[in-house]
Amino acid sequence: MVKGGSGMGRSVRPQSYFLRSFGCQMNEHDTERIAGLLEEMGIGPAASPESADLLVYNTCSIREKADSRLAGHLSYAARLKRDRPSMLVVVAGCLAQSRRDEFFADFPCVDVLVGPQSLHELPGLLEQRLADGAGVGAYAEETTRWSADLPRVRVDGPCAWVQIVAGCTNFCTYCIVPHVRGPEASRPATDIMAEVEGLAAEGVREITLLGQNVNAYGKEPGFQGGETFAGLLRSACAVDGIERVRFMTSHPKDVSEELIQVLAERNQVCEHVHLPAQSGNDRILAAMNRTYDRAGYVGLVRRLRSAVPDLVLTTDLIVGFPGETEEEFQDTLSLVEECRFDSAFTFIYSPRRGTAAAALPGRLPEGAGEERMARLVDVVQRLGMEHNQAMVGQTVEVLVERASRHAAGEVMGRTRGHKPVNFPSAAAPGDLVQVRLLEATSTSFRGQEA
Ligand code: 5AD
Ligand code: SF4
Repeated sequence: MVKGGSGMGRSVRPQSYFLRSFGCQMNEHDTERIAGLLEEMGIGPAASPESADLLVYNTCSIREKADSRLAGHLSYAARLKRDRPSMLVVVAGCLAQSRRDEFFADFPCVDVLVGPQSLHELPGLLEQRLADGAGVGAYAEETTRWSADLPRVRVDGPCAWVQIVAGCTNFCTYCIVPHVRGPEASRPATDIMAEVEGLAAEGVREITLLGQNVNAYGKEPGFQGGETFAGLLRSACAVDGIERVRFMTSHPKDVSEELIQVLAERNQVCEHVHLPAQSGNDRILAAMNRTYDRAGYVGLVRRLRSAVPDLVLTTDLIVGFPGETEEEFQDTLSLVEECRFDSAFTFIYSPRRGTAAAALPGRLPEGAGEERMARLVDVVQRLGMEHNQAMVGQTVEVLVERASRHAAGEVMGRTRGHKPVNFPSAAAPGDLVQVRLLEATSTSFRGQEA
């Protein structure tokens, strides 16, 4: 534990918490564990930040926008705390780790900081803060305790995440993840399978194996877990009650023939691969340290598509990497056309402190990133629409997730390719239903039970 600044206030034991998650799936996964730890301490959920004794922000540091959003929330927290000095503020997650040195000085309303590898320390940190009134924090550099093994308050529903890999050792030059989440570590297969079996017993029907780089599972030196990633997928499929298995995110360099084989087998492993390309230009890919070139990526997509003809392929793309020229950006546009992605998460490059790319020259002028992004999104949406229009008229398997937010009497579920479908139905969450697709947008469908 590391002592921080001074969040002085009266030490009143909190009865209720309000928890906000800002980041990726891993962040949401960890948020369920933070709730689990707090509830184990006898602290219950509050309906709003205004009525809570304890505010917890589980933060993200992947792009700059996340920093400014948190700053807005913390200035509101500071105002609430002025009226109620006994209120406690916890900042957890990646930003707590990456900004630990200045956090207490920049945000005096914060009482506890806890990095993503130290969530298990949260109860002890809270006790310490209550006992002596000074700001306190914990920040481990690597994963030694798995947040996945902590108590959890799971968001209800038939789908659950299961963490299999923590951290990342790839050091893509733009990315802060290896700096805050530490080196890649694989979770023992026996713990993973015990969690999957427990989830299935609770009624979960679909699991997503989760990690920054899932298909590097078991590859770090010294790992004794005894399973490959493909083997783990097969074991998860064998668990009674698990109807669908997904995984997220894969690095192209770690897609093995064995993995392609498992995808082609047509068992519960869904034919959806999220395969971040980041760029379509070789010079930019090298500057990003992605370790593949465009031809290598396209060749991999070709092998995947020939083994799994109805594969749904999604990706992440960055525009405006330092020094990216118009021609280099156009290579990303043409890669999207060539690979015909079903959808893509698109990002404007955001410099992150401590990363290699942050020191590179060639920052794009104001507005240029936005302009490229708009052109990229146009192509991504057109292709999404073409893919989805081509599916209209088909009958597909949908796993019902919840009641629709748009219309009474309707439910929302997903195809095996992870595309949302809304349709009128009395089916319950967890039911697998055959649905005829009637209408499409670039990202979703309307349908009717077949
Ligand atoms: N700027 C913009 N996008 C980024 N990503 C990661 N770091 C940055 C950054 N500094 C994107 C990548 C990654 C996704 C999770 O976020 O596309 O795959
Ligand atoms: Fe970041 Fe690259 Fe690791 Fe993904 S693979 S988390 S982009 S360093």
